[in-house]
Amino acid sequence: MNKAKRTAVIAGNWKMNKTPAETTALINEMKPLVAGADCKVVLCVPAIDIPAAVEAAKGSNIEIGAENVHFKDSGAYTGEIAANMLVEAGVKYVVIGHSERRQYFGETDQTVNLRTLAAVKAGLTAIVCVGETLEQRELGYTETLLKFQTKMALTNVSAEDLKNIIIAYEPVWAIGTGVTATAEQADEGNGFVREAIAEVYGKDVAETVTVQYGGSMNAKNADELVAKVNVDGGLIGGASLKAEDFSVIVKAASK
Ligand code: 13P
Repeated sequence: MNKAKRTAVIAGNWKMNKTPAETTALINEMKPLVAGADCKVVLCVPAIDIPAAVEAAKGSNIEIGAENVHFKDSGAYTGEIAANMLVEAGVKYVVIGHSERRQYFGETDQTVNLRTLAAVKAGLTAIVCVGETLEQRELGYTETLLKFQTKMALTNVSAEDLKNIIIAYEPVWAIGTGVTATAEQADEGNGFVREAIAEVYGKDVAETVTVQYGGSMNAKNADELVAKVNVDGGLIGGASLKAEDFSVIVKAASK
């Protein structure tokens, strides 16, 4: 394993939090705290907040992401947002297949794959989420499931396009629960994801892909998690809504 081959990325996923005015205030608070970070810093925000976020982040090291993207270029898809619209708005990253979307909005492995293809075609970096439920873990299916979700998400993705894909391992049981995976569990899960990539694209390519951990990562546990060989940063929910906490996580990934 060679962590030096990969870029650590700390990405906030704000979920359905913050108005445009609150977005401006929070990013202005964060900017000085994360300046000079030795990792990539991304904030994935609600669609309505994107213009405010892009404006507030101008001239800083914070890049802006969306929380979803549709897989068609345009058309009769009421309420949806196409990849080129995000690009024109200044978005660089997009979260795809978050477990909340899989659970509440009918997201499937197939639509995750289609959204991933649309995102990379438009020049966005896709942050593709995979993760097992507690029941699946207890049944012993974690490795099988993580490898299946990873391979499904990457169907028809070329090795070249893989450069614009991050996989985030987010155990569903650790999201928003305050229950964090142990550093060993995070490392193992991320390792399964990397193995799945190696099985399709070869080991050398797999070594270059950024694999994040997400699920109750916070200012206290970030150090231990990002120190693991397979953990190349994190996808942060609750703690990304607090400037100070988020900046501590960014600093942990900058070491
Ligand atoms: P929490 O950090 O709030 O557990 O959320 C993790 C997550 O779902 C990030 O996408």
